Amino acid sequence: MDNKAYERIVYLRELLEKYNYEYYILNESSVSDQEYDRLMQELILLENANPDIDSSSSPSKRVGGAVASQFEKITHKRLMLSLGNAFSDEDLRDFDRKIKEIIPLKNIEYVCELKIDGLAMSVEYVNGVINYGATRGDGVEGEIVTNNVKTIKDIPLRVLENKTFEVRGEVFMSKKVLEELNKKRAANNEALLANCRNAAAGSIRQLDSKIAASRKLENFMYYLVNATELGITKHYDSLQLMKKLGFNVNPNSKVCNGIEEVIKYVEEYTLIRPTLPYDIDGIVIKVNDMTLYDEIGYTAKTPKWAIAYKFPPEEVITKMKDIIFTVGRTGRVTPNAVLEPVRVAGSLISRATLHNEDFVKERDIKIGDYVVIRKAGDVIPEVVRVIKDKRDGSEQDFVMATHCPICGSLLERKNDEAAHYCFNPNCDKKKIESLIHFASRDAMNIEGLGDSIIEEFYNLGYLKKIEDIYSLDSHKDEIKLMEGYGDKSVNKLLASIEKSKENSLEKLLFGLGIKEVGAKGAKLIAKKFKAMDFIENATMEELLLIKDVGPVMAENIYNYFRNEENQNLLLSLKMFGLNMDYLGSTFVADESNPFNNKICVLTGTLSSMTRNEAKQILEDFGASVSGSVSKKTNYVIAGVEAGSKLDKAKTLGVEVIDEETFLKMIGR
Ligand code: IVH
Repeated sequence: MDNKAYERIVYLRELLEKYNYEYYILNESSVSDQEYDRLMQELILLENANPDIDSSSSPSKRVGGAVASQFEKITHKRLMLSLGNAFSDEDLRDFDRKIKEIIPLKNIEYVCELKIDGLAMSVEYVNGVINYGATRGDGVEGEIVTNNVKTIKDIPLRVLENKTFEVRGEVFMSKKVLEELNKKRAANNEALLANCRNAAAGSIRQLDSKIAASRKLENFMYYLVNATELGITKHYDSLQLMKKLGFNVNPNSKVCNGIEEVIKYVEEYTLIRPTLPYDIDGIVIKVNDMTLYDEIGYTAKTPKWAIAYKFPPEEVITKMKDIIFTVGRTGRVTPNAVLEPVRVAGSLISRATLHNEDFVKERDIKIGDYVVIRKAGDVIPEVVRVIKDKRDGSEQDFVMATHCPICGSLLERKNDEAAHYCFNPNCDKKKIESLIHFASRDAMNIEGLGDSIIEEFYNLGYLKKIEDIYSLDSHKDEIKLMEGYGDKSVNKLLASIEKSKENSLEKLLFGLGIKEVGAKGAKLIAKKFKAMDFIENATMEELLLIKDVGPVMAENIYNYFRNEENQNLLLSLKMFGLNMDYLGSTFVADESNPFNNKICVLTGTLSSMTRNEAKQILEDFGASVSGSVSKKTNYVIAGVEAGSKLDKAKTLGVEVIDEETFLKMIGR
């Protein structure tokens, strides 16, 4: 090792980290941008010339460079819980009342924090050095995105004390950065990013960390996982400690004495919200005294000592320039408002659904009207009402389409339905939409076969109907010559098509796009009938025996399998070798099994399955799986090296089951 280089590297790293800390956490700087860039360049050159010197926590990692082929998964050491929601003052008082039923204090001390609209991130430090950063995923298992996390300037690569701990917080993109990014994307003719949350989530999942670095993500930490082990008992103190360690902690957090003070905080920040440089979608309220958490307890997915107050859906007024009609997979024709673009709930909106003819007529909506738009969460934006005072007489009456805007067939409206349908089985749009649905994530999950590719292949004649997906390899050579495709991407696409053949029955059943049969319904039916043949031959009576299957759904299923074209499709899919059996657990949650309606906690490592698999099995058996042990826990399933949860179970007298017993109970 070159000693001189080593010393200079250590010196530069410390200096650059100090500048980072000043700039990103203290919001002040003692160095010019040019000088900072020059020092960073020098460090990168020195590190490249001395690869034997470990650079995993070097500030040079801030600029990105590492390219991954995919993200590895990690099981969170403690579940990453989500929060229950409150939508009104009454909901908040209710939350407080329930806590007081357990903790009989006159006033509970709460910490109010802004609910930043980004994505949750967990970061582990070992002896003060960043070890990994992982997304929340499903709360049990996340993706390791360490190289991208290292590019986020206000997440320290090394903290000021040599401690081992995990912190959680929100990674987000500021409104200004999103605006600038979208300006650049518009200039390059690239699709715009809809809102700060999607932009942040998309950036953190970039395989090329240089791209992630260019997205200028930011972070606020809100949870120190090991606080009690570090001797902290108040949540607010853990926020202060994180700040002291060098993390960015949101400055608007406040300790409130009692729920009425919380309600005042919510009112205050409802007004401040539009002036903040980042998007927030609510206020998080947490009990300050962490020693009370276990006593207050948890539901399967959320703590009872915290809640998220969600702001009411934002309503915005804009002009409706036109009404156009779109055709969906089932042939349903929907009127849509074409709007003067407007920002609603963090997204730029230029279309909104008008649902159907009756919706428009009941609200007396005319073309040229000023309308109120609403978007709640991820829901499609909708027109709520018309501002009639703004009319100047130039507005035009709405006329429902009589013919399909794609194929020109006469539309029909069945007596009992509000919607109009195109019944032409050869309508291009219907076919494209049904192909898109078949390949989508909850259906056959064919990676690489997205909406625009399907449309392109449809127009070229490579994909005309669902079964064509499984003979797409006959067009391999032509596709490889198309712009944007190469050997690698085509082979990858064909491999994911091949892989989809192994899917369990419910994915295929959902993918067929039978009217009214959603992903949940498909799962229930697949679980009950176990094989496609049985569903095909099921009588109406048999279908109606399934919980949640009503007469309309049953009739749609029954009719679907009696249509000749659908029968041919199924025959082709069978010939292509698609799996037609249900592969999930066939156990039906009922009174007779030991885990039905029980609250279970998993701890330690099981030798025969991952924690995620065990959780899935328990849920299939009708249990809810919680992250922590309380008096309400029925069973703690303990693998090897079970820790504090096992101790807690013993203290509370909760039944503990070892792996062998667990396997017996689930019949393995
Ligand atoms: S606390 C058990 N605090 O909101 C504690 N969450 O549904 C769980 N979020 O996934 C989280 N700001 O991504 C907490 N100050 C804050 C937050 C916050 C944003 C997000 C987080 C979480 C979701 C809760």
